[in-house]
Amino acid sequence: MKAIQLEKPLHFRHIDVPEPEKPQRGQALVRVHRVGICGSDYSGYLGKMPFYSYPRIPGHELGVEVLAVGDGVTNVKTGDRCSVEPYMNCEKCPACQRGNSNCCEVLQVLGVHTDGGLRPCFLLPARKLHPSTKLTLEQLALVETLAIGCHAVNRANPQPGEAALVIGAGPIGLATLEFVKVSGARPIVFDLSSVRLDFCKNRLGVKDVIEIKADGSEVAALTELCGGNLPTVVIDATGSNKSMGNALNYAGFTGRVVYVGITTQEISFPHSVMHRRELTLLSSRNALPREFRRIIQLIEEGRIDTRPWITHQAPFDAMINEFPNWLKPETRVIKAIVNVQ
Ligand SMILES: NC(=O)c1ccc[n+]([C@@H]2O[C@H](COP(=O)([O-])OP(=O)(O)OC[C@H]3O[C@@H](n4cnc5c(N)ncnc54)[C@H](O)[C@@H]3O)[C@@H](O)[C@H]2O)c1
Ligand SMILES: [Zn+2]
Ligand SMILES: [Zn+2]
Repeated sequence: MKAIQLEKPLHFRHIDVPEPEKPQRGQALVRVHRVGICGSDYSGYLGKMPFYSYPRIPGHELGVEVLAVGDGVTNVKTGDRCSVEPYMNCEKCPACQRGNSNCCEVLQVLGVHTDGGLRPCFLLPARKLHPSTKLTLEQLALVETLAIGCHAVNRANPQPGEAALVIGAGPIGLATLEFVKVSGARPIVFDLSSVRLDFCKNRLGVKDVIEIKADGSEVAALTELCGGNLPTVVIDATGSNKSMGNALNYAGFTGRVVYVGITTQEISFPHSVMHRRELTLLSSRNALPREFRRIIQLIEEGRIDTRPWITHQAPFDAMINEFPNWLKPETRVIKAIVNVQ
């Protein structure tokens, strides 16, 4: 059977992989239907992802169908359609023992550290499957991206009516916004790109967006929006170390600042900003099983509208040719999905 492998940066190829074995105890054999492409796939392709190893079959945002289950599996059965939690954790380290499977000390992410879903079928631990009888396969493939935003918002724990600033309106910032809205907090978005801000306004219904210019005028605009104060939740989803250092300046007294974006650079800020306002600085990595279940329920209930999300699609055989186009800003990709079957 054919899989798509990223052999080395900038080089995808079709390879033959053996048919999977029968599922062992606790495992499920799944057919892959849809694969979402995200920032880490683009960085892996460009050779800019620090933990990525090659060659690798990418694909961690998956909408799958269960073909068979091994002994002892009770959470899914043959025929179930599922979202996949792609964080393979050891279940033994102190973080796992505390229930933080998102942040296992030896975490292996599908499609990044181990082979992922750009193949017709493969074996997974059944405990990583989250079924839904209502969601489409595209929606199931979107759940993981949304989960990154969900976890970031849960780290900040915004309260109804509280102002929450999201910096960066890429897919991760947009996912974060969805859960700021669900929390009842008041979303405000910063970006450098007017195109991305227009998307927030027109497609996600976020009223308050501010385009960052180099002149620092956004602080006055933000203070005005918040009736003379600053927001007490700030979530940085840019991946820019400059923005992340600056983010603390946007937080009001005793506020919470969450870094969901990732940088390999150092971040710097004057400690006085943090100390004087007694800010809490949090990071956010991956997501938890209960967050996957909650998202599925929110989509089922119509509280999250996934329609604006999928902007591009390609069949499996056309992906290798299409992929470089999705990197071009003028194609305005939010989420591209590969139809494997
Ligand atoms: N926490 C996690 O587990 C997790 C998971 C996946 C991705 N990420 C990270 O999230 C980040 C965002 O991912 P994405 O796919 O949305 O990326 P993206 O590049 O599509 O979006 C980033 C957005 O930030 C904006 N931006 C950049 N610098 C800015 C600045 N100084 N001020 C305001 N806006 C600015 C850009 O214009 C862009 O719209 C990346 O760093 C990615 O690695 C984190
Ligand atoms: Zn992703
Ligand atoms: Zn662990």
